[in-house]
Amino acid sequence: MSRSKRKWDHIRYALATGQEQKAGFEDITFIHQSLPNCSLDEIKLDTKIGGLSVSSPIFINAMTGGGGERTLQINRDLAIVAEKMGMAISVGSQMAALKDPAEAKTYQIVRKENPNGMVIGNLGSEATVDQAKAAIQMIEANALQIHLNVVQELTMPEGDRDFSSALLRIENIVKGANVPILVKEVGFGMNKEAVEQLFSIGVSAVDIGGFGGTNFARIENNRRKSTLAFFDEWGIPTTVSIAEAKATSKQGAVLASGGIQTSLEIAKAIALGADGVGVAGYFLKILMKEGVDTLVEELHVIHEELKMMMTALGAKNLKELQNAQIIISGKTYHWLNERNID
Ligand code: FNR
Repeated sequence: MSRSKRKWDHIRYALATGQEQKAGFEDITFIHQSLPNCSLDEIKLDTKIGGLSVSSPIFINAMTGGGGERTLQINRDLAIVAEKMGMAISVGSQMAALKDPAEAKTYQIVRKENPNGMVIGNLGSEATVDQAKAAIQMIEANALQIHLNVVQELTMPEGDRDFSSALLRIENIVKGANVPILVKEVGFGMNKEAVEQLFSIGVSAVDIGGFGGTNFARIENNRRKSTLAFFDEWGIPTTVSIAEAKATSKQGAVLASGGIQTSLEIAKAIALGADGVGVAGYFLKILMKEGVDTLVEELHVIHEELKMMMTALGAKNLKELQNAQIIISGKTYHWLNERNID
């Protein structure tokens, strides 16, 4: 199967397969605060992602590029949204353009539409230092995401089977690249031990990419009518994985993603400790079904709702929201209890 066909399949099947809504957010409840002692117009949403200032804690996570005109159009639209909202944006895996330079423009459009914004490159952990440098240069990336997608590869008949030495390759990229390196999962979550290993080799941030939203095992199984059904339910839910990542003693930012759609879920992810929140499938769905203007409108609503919740909680900025009081119940509580994570 051509790489370009696979790119388009991922978009079609992600939209058809939808979001699982199993990310664990129903287990998180804010403790209401009757005396918040703040006013709506004091609330600030600006923050830093990968060391760069952005107006929003929400970023558009890696999706596409490398599939010709159709993926160029999607990246152009997503970049327009990011630029309008002052949000960071990641492109999809750039390996397609490293293999076929004619595809570079499908990624470069993001930088073109967003000349001063935060644009994040993306490659898999098979990448060499030279490939990482080329991907950064291609889009003048402010940071580079390296994705870990073992289960997705295993569910693809043509996928990788050898995952040895990924940590060593990432360490070499950290040393050789001149931008912060972020390491992300793609919907299966990361445990504390993996995050600890990544922070100890100098990775600036992890995006835990938890289970519960876009499900690449299900997408690959549906595409191929293959039967690795046991992977359909495989992964660490997003809520659990944020808490796992925050439990390390090492330094590094924790970004949350995986099944996040609403302002309430974004607020809960931040209250669990996330420094930023990535959304992929849900934004893609709005863009493809309703267009750029609706997605921009939805983001304005999400930002306003976030400010409302922060007012109710007395959290004037994202640091204070990270310290908001929550109750953790259900499966998330059980998991964290068993792992001795508080
Ligand atoms: C993705 N994702 C992804 N991730 C990555 O690191 N490189 C990539 O090329 C892609 N490609 C891609 C295509 C499509 C169509 C989707 C929907 C997603 C994964 C994405 O960045 C994210 O980690 C997961 O989708 C989980 O987040 P959501 O979708 O539940 O918000």
